[in-house]
Amino acid sequence: MKTLNIALISITILFISFNKNIIATDNDFPTFSKKEKNTIQSLSSDNYQSCQDMSNRVSGNKQAIQWGKQLFFDKRLSGSGKTACATCHDPNSAWTKHEALSHINADYPAKRHVPHLWDICYSRWFFWDGRADSLWSQALISLESPSEMNMKRIDIATLIINTPSLKDNYQRIFNAIPVGLMQALEQDDCMNGVNHSPKWTDLTTIIQGDINSLFVNIAKTISSFEETIISKDSPFDQFSQQLLSKDDMENPAISIDAAKGLKLFIGKAQCINCHSGANFSDGEFHHSFLQTGLNRDADLGRYNAIEALMQSDFNANSQYCDTDKAGFRKKVNFIYKSYEFKHQFKTPTLRNIEKTYPYMHTGQYNNLREVINHYNTISKEIKVNQHKEILLSSLSLSEHEVNDLLEFLKTLTSH
Ligand code: HEC
Ligand code: HEC
Repeated sequence: MKTLNIALISITILFISFNKNIIATDNDFPTFSKKEKNTIQSLSSDNYQSCQDMSNRVSGNKQAIQWGKQLFFDKRLSGSGKTACATCHDPNSAWTKHEALSHINADYPAKRHVPHLWDICYSRWFFWDGRADSLWSQALISLESPSEMNMKRIDIATLIINTPSLKDNYQRIFNAIPVGLMQALEQDDCMNGVNHSPKWTDLTTIIQGDINSLFVNIAKTISSFEETIISKDSPFDQFSQQLLSKDDMENPAISIDAAKGLKLFIGKAQCINCHSGANFSDGEFHHSFLQTGLNRDADLGRYNAIEALMQSDFNANSQYCDTDKAGFRKKVNFIYKSYEFKHQFKTPTLRNIEKTYPYMHTGQYNNLREVINHYNTISKEIKVNQHKEILLSSLSLSEHEVNDLLEFLKTLTSH
């Protein structure tokens, strides 16, 4: 009996010490189920397709990309001559500006935070409220908006026609500028003659049409460059490769805390419900219950964008769209205006998110901890419009879990 007892005790001790090795402790790397692994693969940048935009005839064209890059940095494209796209979307500041709102025109203060441009070609809609349905039509709005470039399309045409290097570049990539348009806008002094462009209403409809075409071509050139702003191969992407190849990872590309954060991101914390796919965005619009400190109706977001997009002369269903593909042209036909869209904003990509501060359409959060705390303390449920499906319910994450989530978001940095 005594020997049996001793044997039992030793077996128990053996079992306990063995178990110690197999029961996960706080310091163990989490394991992922098959389903979780599939979800993780769906977030990998390996899923990125080509950025080729069928609606833009110079998308992917090397000459256009090169010139588009120059134009992106060219201050002559602004009404003041002092602002370039890169002034606000600054490559040295992760293609954004590290301030909540960037005002460049005292008469037209900015209303929303400058979004960064990482992986912008994978968006379905553009602007925080989605009032453009192609990257090139987005650029048209930025060029003319008084709070951004503040440049009239006729002044852009005048600038191109009267600046030999710009004119040469233009004609190398697109057709020759129509003679009638040249005659209407050519100036003797050849000096950045934008101050004395003729009045729009004095021009014939043919000349107006030619100006619109040139204006669209300039925007298409700029957007062909923007399509090259892509982030890939972040530690997260490497980790997702590792998961695919073998289970026992000797040197995982992300830390234990980050891996736990990833598990939360695709599970308990529900982030995946909206930040899905390789660019971590469902491409849709949601209400995120931000306390903006503004009048409740101050910014109606998606709600006000719908009509602007449907009525735009440059939407994807217009004559300026270079594809006949119904899927692309007609997406504007499927949108409608509904009160549910009030205060909804586009789900942003989370790639390089650590570098693109501050956050949200208001730029009101300076760091990622503040954003996670926001989600962690929302008491309302976020639903798919008025449907039953709940996208975000109360989270109640512990301090530890908030830290893990934060560590995970940092693994999305590739540049
Ligand atoms: C004064 C700062 C400023 C300048 C200059 C500026 N932008 Fe922006 N840009 C913004 C702001 C602010 C928004 C968001 C506005 C909104 O959503 O209503 C924006 C939005 C965008 C978006 C949409 C991003 C997204 O996530 O949907 C793109 C693309 C863009 N700008 C490109 C450009 C280009 C190209 C130029 C130059 C032709 C330019 N911007 C000039 C401030 C600026
Ligand atoms: C219901 C859909 C939804 C869910 C769920 C969701 N998000 Fe978001 N997220 C959004 C939208 C929409 C915005 C932009 C909100 C705005 O500016 O008003 C956003 C913004 C962000 C931003 C700021 C991005 C930027 O460029 O400013 C971060 C970071 C973020 N979310 C992380 C998370 C994390 C982490 C989770 C999980 C805890 C999560 N989100 C859950 C929809 C969602």
